[in-house]
Amino acid sequence: MKKIAVFSSGGDAPGMNAAIRAVVRTANHHDLEVYGIYRGYQGLIEGDIKKLTNKDMANIIHRGGTVLKTARSKEFMTVEGRRKAHSVLEAYGIDGLIAIGGNGTLTGAKVFMEEYDFPIVGLPGTIDNDLYGTDLTIGFDTAVNTAIEAVDKIRDTADSHNRIFFIEVMGRHAGFIALNTGIGSGASDILIPEEMETMDELISALSTVKSRRKLFNLVIVAEGSGLGDIQEVAKQVQEKFPEREIRVAIIGHLQRGGSPTAIDRVLSSRLGYAAVNAMCDGKKGVMLGIKNGEISEVPFEDAIHKQKRVRADLLQVAKVLAS
Ligand code: F6P
Repeated sequence: MKKIAVFSSGGDAPGMNAAIRAVVRTANHHDLEVYGIYRGYQGLIEGDIKKLTNKDMANIIHRGGTVLKTARSKEFMTVEGRRKAHSVLEAYGIDGLIAIGGNGTLTGAKVFMEEYDFPIVGLPGTIDNDLYGTDLTIGFDTAVNTAIEAVDKIRDTADSHNRIFFIEVMGRHAGFIALNTGIGSGASDILIPEEMETMDELISALSTVKSRRKLFNLVIVAEGSGLGDIQEVAKQVQEKFPEREIRVAIIGHLQRGGSPTAIDRVLSSRLGYAAVNAMCDGKKGVMLGIKNGEISEVPFEDAIHKQKRVRADLLQVAKVLAS
């Protein structure tokens, strides 16, 4: 192995820059040439590639986003798109890839690796924390901290006006951000896709806190919660509690930006370092992650298809502390 390339793909996540930096510097430490592919798989297809040096990686560890940019490529989902990508890699003489991204990124990596027997090591880069085989994904900790900071501010105004607030956080298919934000911000209820709550259960949760004379309520809702559109949910709750004032806040893409936390910087640095070492050891088709503080290794197949469950004890903590 003489030349490797690194790219980020799918939704950006704070800490991706720290991971890219770690890949480049570790590769150079092993006297490997390292290239950056810009705009993920789409940039690979279009040959948007540049050699990276240690110096290029200066002053980025603290920055959110990704210096390599990112994209969700439809073309890479086609046989022809992947053929073009492979010919670009051949033209540059690249022997291995390090892919940083979420489920879609790893799915693309698996298909490509199987088609061309091309060595790829994946790193879990998504704020959603929804990849099997790792306790944490790059960007999750920062996103939760950002969401909690936003909810703290909403709490001030909710408290002043005695209002019920429904606050939507990211997570189309997973409730990790919502659950952690809800516990960390003392929410009255948390709605996540993994634990479908009915409208009656939501009303009953709000009635319980009402009976404690709690004057304001924060309900944290994951994008993909089973109850549907958050505005609709708020409307239905308003009908049940006509005397209450209800507002909705959607935190949205704020959660994807900002300077990574210490946890994300250290995690990303460790993973980037481990990815290059794994590649030098001949590993491929695996995503690296972190389990009980140790670097873990999980086949793409499992990372993509096995479902990571929310911790039952966290669900219990959320319930007990809200009541
Ligand atoms: O996968 C990460 C994520 O941030 C999801 O939580 C969210 O639903 C989605 O990306 C938003 O994607 P986009 O930036 O393409 O709107």
